[in-house]
Amino acid sequence: MPLNKKMLAALNDQITMELSASHSYLAMAGWFESQNLPGMAAWMQMQSAEEREHGLKFFEFVVDRGEEVSLGALAAPQAVFGSALEVFETSLAQEKAVTASINNLYTLANAEGEYEAIPLLTWFISEQVEEEASVDQVVEDLRRAGNDQQLLLMLDRELGARKGEGE
Ligand SMILES: [Fe+2]
Ligand SMILES: [Fe+2]
Repeated sequence: MPLNKKMLAALNDQITMELSASHSYLAMAGWFESQNLPGMAAWMQMQSAEEREHGLKFFEFVVDRGEEVSLGALAAPQAVFGSALEVFETSLAQEKAVTASINNLYTLANAEGEYEAIPLLTWFISEQVEEEASVDQVVEDLRRAGNDQQLLLMLDRELGARKGEGE
């Protein structure tokens, strides 16, 4: 059965949103490199790769349903920041926007009777809880560190030790 038109458009928009998030995290990685904070840069690169994987999960779903993928344009992401805290606050706002979008997809899938999309969306709902929590933790740590350069470096080293999913 073909996908409902509204659902297909929303899924295609979600692919673009995940790829935009990937683009944005890569810009953040670049900014951290420019600040000589390689741990945070590595964390952002890993996050960027994860967002691309998210985009591909939706891509596969659209393809598996025999529908056409339609990608939107990627806007140039913010690349200049005032502080590490500002970067992670921007990331948190971005994750919250993604969460709202996934929740809307879930509501739409139920309203349109697109039950095949529910397992995929349920996975994303749990994933967003984790993503928001991990970014929020860094925001809190950075707030606590304030202007302490020692603490900033410690946090940079800690975030640099992040392992990929399933490692
Ligand atoms: Fe994502
Ligand atoms: Fe995310």
